[in-house]
Amino acid sequence: MKWTSVQWEGTFDGIKDPIAIVDIDFMVVRANRHFAMKPSQERGYEFSCHKVFANSEFICRGCPVALALETGQPQRGQVRRGSRYYDVLSYPIRLNDDQVSTNVINHYVDVTDSRELHGRMIQSEKMAAVGLLAGNIAHELNNPLTGIRSLAQVLMAEVPKSGTLREDIVEVEKAAERSQKIIENLLGFSKGESDQKQVLVSLNEIVRRTLPMLKTAMREHRSEILLAPEELMVKVEPHLMQQVVFNLVNNACQAMIDAGTVSIETSNNEDEEGRAWSIVQVSDTGSGIPQDIIESIFEPFFTTKEKGQGTGLGLSMSQSVIQNFGGEIRV
Ligand SMILES: Nc1ncnc2c1ncn2[C@@H]1O[C@H](COP(=O)(O)OP(=O)(O)O)[C@@H](O)[C@H]1O
Ligand SMILES: [Mg+2]
Repeated sequence: MKWTSVQWEGTFDGIKDPIAIVDIDFMVVRANRHFAMKPSQERGYEFSCHKVFANSEFICRGCPVALALETGQPQRGQVRRGSRYYDVLSYPIRLNDDQVSTNVINHYVDVTDSRELHGRMIQSEKMAAVGLLAGNIAHELNNPLTGIRSLAQVLMAEVPKSGTLREDIVEVEKAAERSQKIIENLLGFSKGESDQKQVLVSLNEIVRRTLPMLKTAMREHRSEILLAPEELMVKVEPHLMQQVVFNLVNNACQAMIDAGTVSIETSNNEDEEGRAWSIVQVSDTGSGIPQDIIESIFEPFFTTKEKGQGTGLGLSMSQSVIQNFGGEIRV
């Protein structure tokens, strides 16, 4: 049986991956149904492949077609269509008697999901490394901090019961104590202990208890605290939850160059599946997070701040903490 072009077309349309024959000028010679970005779009023919595939005026970044034609060998590349990524295998073919190939057949495979999985794997590996590092640092810092605390206590016994000197020493002792608390959290965090100590607490209470720690950060800004009238009970590890709220508010304050307003709001909501969520929302009047870094902000060590201002760990830690509690962080 001799196959007609309709039969061939039907065959290629049966393949769910985009496939196209493209000429040396990036024009579509033939394409299957899945090649067009929009199903309603014309199959192409007198259109360029980047127009039909990705609705773009420009040759896709990572396109292997030119190299395949130049070398006469199959080439592989990776291109984007909207938010999805495709591996492209570009095979040079000869459609006429010329010795050189002036056409390629491109086979596109959607690799978005495995790319994302890979990204998440790298992220969780990085987090594991951070945990290990944090654990070691925490151990190292614990001894000198104990030293500072006990010397502060010795000093306190020697100075007059009232006066600024005593107040200063009290502050030193308190700061060292707070540092030890943070370290304790870090140690718990790096050992992945957090889920063992989850208890039912009021979200409003968490916010209330975090506010005093934020005094310095919020000093130059106005604050709006809108707590839900009812107590929203959440099952979390309270210290870690406090650290998450602290991180978010601290970021908000740092994001406002001039004096601005930071608001902290608690509320509850039900999703489409009828599950109840307790929400703590932190917003600021800064310029917002630039679109081009949104994908990176949860990565460990990602920071746009100067040395000493940011570690880039706040959001990545907050995210793993919240995920451990069965929640999520949304931007
Ligand atoms: N409220 C915010 N407004 C603008 N950018 C923000 C805000 N919160 C976080 N970011 C961005 O996300 C980055 C990562 O935040 P984070 O993980 O807390 O690390 P760090 O605060 O140490 O830089 C910040 O450097 C900043 O660029
Ligand atoms: Mg931060």
